[in-house]
Amino acid sequence: MDRDVAHIADDPLAPSKDGGGIPPDHRVGWLARSVPVHARSFWYCFGGLTLFTAFMLAASGAFLALYYEPTPDRAYASIFYISNYVKYGWLIRSIHGWGARLMVAFLVVHMVRVYVTASYKHPREFTWVVGVLLFVVTMGFNLTGDLLPWDQKAFATSAAALSLLGQVPLVGDALVRIVAGGAGLGAPTLTRFYSAHIMLLPALLLGLVLLHFRMVRRHGIAGPL
Ligand code: HEM
Repeated sequence: MDRDVAHIADDPLAPSKDGGGIPPDHRVGWLARSVPVHARSFWYCFGGLTLFTAFMLAASGAFLALYYEPTPDRAYASIFYISNYVKYGWLIRSIHGWGARLMVAFLVVHMVRVYVTASYKHPREFTWVVGVLLFVVTMGFNLTGDLLPWDQKAFATSAAALSLLGQVPLVGDALVRIVAGGAGLGAPTLTRFYSAHIMLLPALLLGLVLLHFRMVRRHGIAGPL
């Protein structure tokens, strides 16, 4: 018996033509899809968890943007104000900071799961490539977000990242000029990092996530090993 047919026989929730075992009143139109049996496991949750943290970061970031002032003379003071004077500002800031670390951790587990289960193989190679771009964008969020508090830690991490970028053969210096808005870290860097953090990167993330999910829906979850 074909493996999928065996699933349907074994499990009433397995995919089927009549809506995948989901009771009619629980189907959400085109969103309805049942999850294959082998994918109903802990390790297959991390793509969705990554998405969940991205939502959390967008929501907490929107609140922070109400008070954050992206100029060299006000950035640190506005962060201090959020943490100490805005009601629950410390909580929103912590959710944003820890959420960012959690997103990277979930993302790495998701990538390792996809790699270990060989789910990147044909026909899902494009899903993997879009995933790699999503990884780069997520790292971009972390790089640009690190500078925003405009304190000693921010300078140290951003200066280290920019000096790494400067090591890229041939184009290193040009890349630093584009990213930092000058030969090194300075006031224009804060403007560039903030605008990338709240406009360019969210737009890229949204577009790439939609593409990623389109591919996941098109090919379905890869079969078990
Ligand atoms: C913001 C980042 C990302 C989000 C929100 C995301 C989300 C998801 C979700 C929800 C799935 C469905 C299956 C599952 O949850 O395990 C999935 C599948 C997949 N993802 Fe991601 N992903 C992201 C980044 C990545 C990265 C960095 C890679 C690899 C470099 C990747 C490669 C794949 C592949 C190949 C599949 C298909 C797996 C299969 O069919 O079993 N994704 N992704």
